Amino acid sequence: MDLRTAIRLRRSVRRYAAQPVPRDLLDRLAADARAADHLVRPGVRVERVDGRERVAGVLARYAGVYGLVRGAPHLLVGLIPEDTPENRIDLGYVLERVVLEATRLGLATCWMTGSYRPDRAARAIRLRPGERVAAVVALGYPRTDPLARLHDAAVRRVVAAHRRLPLTRIVFAGRWGGPWSSQGADPALVEALECARLAPSARNRQPWRFVVEGEEVHLALTTPAPIDAGIAMAHVALAGREMGLAGRWRLRWADDGMARRLRLPPGVVPAGTFSPIHPRRP
Ligand SMILES: Cc1cc2nc3c(=O)[nH]c(=O)nc-3n(C[C@H](O)[C@H](O)[C@H](O)COP(=O)(O)O)c2cc1C
Repeated sequence: MDLRTAIRLRRSVRRYAAQPVPRDLLDRLAADARAADHLVRPGVRVERVDGRERVAGVLARYAGVYGLVRGAPHLLVGLIPEDTPENRIDLGYVLERVVLEATRLGLATCWMTGSYRPDRAARAIRLRPGERVAAVVALGYPRTDPLARLHDAAVRRVVAAHRRLPLTRIVFAGRWGGPWSSQGADPALVEALECARLAPSARNRQPWRFVVEGEEVHLALTTPAPIDAGIAMAHVALAGREMGLAGRWRLRWADDGMARRLRLPPGVVPAGTFSPIHPRRP
C-alpha cells in the first residue's frame, strides 16, 4: 500500500480488539520512529507502553467531548526534551510517520492530546531528565462488533471527523486570501496539498492554511497547534516524496517577517516553509 492510500484510509479508532500486535510489526514501527530521528531535533522520540491494563491506566476516564478510547493493547508515547513549539512540530511529524506506517500494516490508531493522563503516561515509561509527554497514540486492531462501531460513529459525529474544508478554502496563492486554483498547478503539488487536507487534527479543527509562492509552500495556522502542523508537514513531505516531489520543511514558527510578507491576519501563526529539492524527479 502506498502512503497516499494509507492517508486516505486512516481514521481515528476508539474501540480496540484484545488481540495484541505481533512483535515483528511492533519492531518495524519502532524502527520507523527511529529512522525519522535524523529529520527532527535531538531528543524528540517515541516510546511504547504494552498491555491493555497498563494502557488503560494511562487513558483518562472522561475528556471533554471524547469518549474513552478503550481496549488498546499498545500506546505510543510522544516525548519532547523541552516544551517548545518546534519540538511539538517535530513530534507531530515523527509520530504521524509511525501512524501512517501502522495504517499500511492494517493497524488502527488514535492520536490523543486530551483523552489521557500525561502524569500516568510519564510513569508508565522511563523518562529522561527534563523530558515531557506531549501526545500519545493508541495502537491495535479495531473492534468490529456493532456496539463498538456505534460508539466510534457517535464520537465521529460529535467532532464531525469525516469533514474536511475544501482545498480552495485552505490554499492561497502568493499571500493570505490570494485565490488559488488547482488548474494549471503541478499535479504532484496539488496531490501533496490534498494529502495535507486529509490529515488528522485535534478536534478536527483543521488549523492549517497554505500559501503557494512559486515552488515554495508556506504553512500558517489559524490557531497555535504545533503538533497539528507537524502532522500536516509529514503528509506533504511523505506524499510529495512518493511522487518525486522531494522537499524539505524549514520551521519558521511565529516568524514576524513571514507573517508580514504573506499578509497573515492577526492570530494566524506562521509555522514553516516547504522547498522542493532539485532535481525534482528521481
Ligand atoms: C493532535 C491530535 C490530538 C487529538 N486528541 C484526541 C483526543 O484526545 N481524544 C480523541 O478521542 N481523539 C483525539 N484526536 C483525534 C481527532 O479528533 C481526529 O483526528 C479528527 O476528528 C479527525 O478524524 P479522523 O482522525 O478519523 O480523520 C486527536 C487528533 C490529533 C491530531
